[in-house]
Amino acid sequence: MKVIVAENYEEMSRKAFEVMAEVVKNNPRAVLGLATGSTPIGLYKNMIEDHEKNGTSYREIKTVNLDEYAGLDYSSDQSYVYFMRHNLFDHIDIDLKNTNIENGKAADRAAECARYNALLDELPRDIQVLGIGSNGHIAFNEPGTPFGSVTHIVDLTESTIKDNSRMFASIDEVPRQAFTMGLKNIMQSKKILILANGANKAKAVYGLVKGEVTENVPASILQLHPDCTLVCDKAAASLL
Ligand code: F6R
Repeated sequence: MKVIVAENYEEMSRKAFEVMAEVVKNNPRAVLGLATGSTPIGLYKNMIEDHEKNGTSYREIKTVNLDEYAGLDYSSDQSYVYFMRHNLFDHIDIDLKNTNIENGKAADRAAECARYNALLDELPRDIQVLGIGSNGHIAFNEPGTPFGSVTHIVDLTESTIKDNSRMFASIDEVPRQAFTMGLKNIMQSKKILILANGANKAKAVYGLVKGEVTENVPASILQLHPDCTLVCDKAAASLL
């Protein structure tokens, strides 16, 4: 795994953008795997600025997102569809028809997982952006998720519900379930770009880079990926 340690969040976001820009420049029809959460917002800001200043086009780009809360759809401003539009898609020239995310409101959740897995098979990703949970989760693959997992419904752990409650009016409003790409789907991306900032991620980052490869730390599977880059700030790298 390539590890890049940045001074701060701004530098982490710029360096992550350099990795992303290379992929988009080399292939204007690339498939980008994207993540939500606080961590990649700076990367998305860099992509928007570059689009505005340099005219980098996303017209032929396709995207697939990692996960979505079960029960929320795009009309909810806590949904990940809303997040992606607000933080990226509304500010670049991407065709929304080329963007994909699980349908949080699907009546038949098993059928929705099957639809998404079939879609992922049709759209091999050139790069997958990831954040990391303080418990080592990637996407919503919580500790104990099998490495062979594909898109499925998860019961969120108390630690993730607590971490994510900052985005909601109260912890009671955080959905208890989500759709998530599985670890096997994530590993199929040609390139992985994982980002982490802040001291509360230091233990998870240690597990990602130097810990035992174990299903108890889902991110540790990335040690087995042939082209994975971690870009993190000094605080997140403090235990390495
Ligand atoms: C988001 C996702 C999550 C987050 C992780 C870190 O699509 O899949 O795994 O990447 O929970 O979240 P932040 O960036 O908010 O610390």
